[in-house]
Amino acid sequence: MFRQGLLHIVRPRPSDTRGLLYAGGIDAEGMIVGGKVRSPTSGEVYEVKNGYLDLLETRLGAANVANLTNFIPGAGRGYEPLWRVHSLGLLTGEPFSTERELRIISELVGVYRGGLYLDVGCSAGLYARGLARAIGDKGDVIGIDISPSMLKEADSRARKIGARASFARADAHNLPFAEASFSGVVCGGTLNELGDPARALRETRRVLRVGGRVAIMGILRAETPHGRRLQRFLSSGGVRFFEPDELRSVLDHAGLETDPLRTYGTVFFAGATSRG
Ligand SMILES: C[S@@+](CC[C@H](N)C(=O)[O-])C[C@H]1O[C@@H](n2cnc3c(N)ncnc32)[C@H](O)[C@@H]1O
Repeated sequence: MFRQGLLHIVRPRPSDTRGLLYAGGIDAEGMIVGGKVRSPTSGEVYEVKNGYLDLLETRLGAANVANLTNFIPGAGRGYEPLWRVHSLGLLTGEPFSTERELRIISELVGVYRGGLYLDVGCSAGLYARGLARAIGDKGDVIGIDISPSMLKEADSRARKIGARASFARADAHNLPFAEASFSGVVCGGTLNELGDPARALRETRRVLRVGGRVAIMGILRAETPHGRRLQRFLSSGGVRFFEPDELRSVLDHAGLETDPLRTYGTVFFAGATSRG
């Protein structure tokens, strides 16, 4: 679903000078369940279907093999129960519940009631749902991903718990939103999978309000020989692992003032503030 009241910030093309307009379909309580939206600038029509607004249409958006695995039918359904709920425990080597992870992310992004948040590479919507619970009915969260399977699952999971979340199929390298739209941006694990993380972070900063916050969870370069071997294998599929200094530098160059990194084994949580 996609909230009708958020269409005004959606600009799929850099040349779009105005937000999208609802062109009709099925809607309930301000949420577009299915239908069409139109750009008044380009005349382009986009569809809301299968639970999300598709801004990529026939474009794949995938930069590497790792991205493509998320396109496998059923990938969305299995992602949270089979991998995500165990992932930080396995990666940090200590008990690490998703509740604990969500507390860290909410704290770093400085979530407040009524804020507008973006979840970049939302997969099945874990962070989007967590934020939706905290922002109340005056706030909003948009989750974007390139994978149809993940977005469908994200919408279904959000609906089941009545979370106020909108989903769009969009590329993190070209965020389809007007500048200074969001109070905060969260990103869980996706930075490691992007073709050009520096560009995605510049885009993140562009869509953030001055003083807006970023909270990122990701994976650092392993220090053990076994970890390095595993990461070398994953790198061949397009996943990259950051050195702490490299991460700080890429955030800084994007115009984001970083807090000290929080690390748990190879897992990092980075908080940062947009310099404006
Ligand atoms: C590690 S998963 C994200 C997990 C999710 N954030 C969570 O916390 O459960 C990476 C996700 O990023 C998406 N992705 C990869 N490249 C992307 C891009 N260029 N733009 C948007 N999403 C992308 C993938 O489809 C995948 O769902």
